Amino acid sequence: MNILFNDLTWQNNLIKNEIAESITTFLSESVYIGGECVEEFENAFAEYIGVKNCIGTGNCTDALELILEAGGIGEGDEVIVPAYSWISSASSVIRTGAKPVFVDVHTDYYTLDPSIMEAQITPNTKALIVVHFYGLPAEMKEIGIIAEKYGIRIIEDCAQSVGAAYNKRKTGSIGWAGAFSFYPTKNLGALGDGGCVTTNDNKLADKIRILANHGQNGKNKHKIIGRNSRLDALQSKILITKLKYLDDWNIRRVRAAARYCMQLTGNLVKLPVTPKYTRHVYHLFVIQIENHYQVQGFLEQRGIQTFMHYPLPLTELEPFEHLNLRSCDFPMAKNMANRILSLPIYPGISDLQIDYVSETLKEAIAFYG
Ligand SMILES: Cc1ncc(COP(=O)(O)O)c(C=O)c1O
Repeated sequence: MNILFNDLTWQNNLIKNEIAESITTFLSESVYIGGECVEEFENAFAEYIGVKNCIGTGNCTDALELILEAGGIGEGDEVIVPAYSWISSASSVIRTGAKPVFVDVHTDYYTLDPSIMEAQITPNTKALIVVHFYGLPAEMKEIGIIAEKYGIRIIEDCAQSVGAAYNKRKTGSIGWAGAFSFYPTKNLGALGDGGCVTTNDNKLADKIRILANHGQNGKNKHKIIGRNSRLDALQSKILITKLKYLDDWNIRRVRAAARYCMQLTGNLVKLPVTPKYTRHVYHLFVIQIENHYQVQGFLEQRGIQTFMHYPLPLTELEPFEHLNLRSCDFPMAKNMANRILSLPIYPGISDLQIDYVSETLKEAIAFYG
């Protein structure tokens, strides 16, 4: 049996007709950049997340940079980021001229560990970027208490967490601003790159709109030096269509994760842990095991595609070398990098496929464990 990590043809087949219809309408309207459908998506997404503003951007990396820049964060400032994430969570900080200050992640949740965060706060700390990693919301209550104590802004990196919730509040509505990715493989994916910022701060939203559109406040009214980072009209149309399905697709991911957990409990696998007050959306189903490279090879030979998110902690990536970071200061991130494996998950994965992956994994563990 061949099992893809994320078989996008499943959702494409399901909504093929609707997508074709929206592309036909798009062609007849011939509005490519901006326009009503971008606004329609922004309004629908703001309502879905539960915020006043949504601003479409070219991708999530730009969204993070725009939040930082619009928030006046730059040279001389420090921003707390998790030691383990996708590079954008920290590269966005460097690109503004500020310094990322890495904090290790929680043993079970893999998100920013609030119990060690406070010690890293200095008078220069202006913000912190929490990443709701793999689809699980970070510990927002404890993080919020610390942020408030020191007057620090919370920026949520929601690239992997669309639809996830902490105490019934959706990620992207809890902190000062949220950054989302609509990269095709994300839980809500476009047919290309896309992203957005969500926020209840109207002033921040206005500034980001201007910054992301060549610094213009209306056509040819250039007010500041900006950039070009917009959500395409075509992608907005696709996202409007897919947003209707998001909750159902997330429920299917949760069910798939529950089946994996049932099949793998007690088999030398560290499984994801989900606190009761959170809604995990399982963008990724990540386990920890010994000999993960060998196990990955074994699964590949049996037709099962897996990945590692990610092979190295951020603190060991070349672009951060100049910060002279020591791996021993980030033991959890290091431990994860040595043990993680992301198993196939997507809304259309069948019980049969999950059972095959689980059984093959048990065989691999018996062989290499
Ligand atoms: C946690 C996290 N942040 C940011 C990004 C960047 O998203 P984009 O590719 O839309 O720039 C990703 C992409 O995978 C991500 O996983």
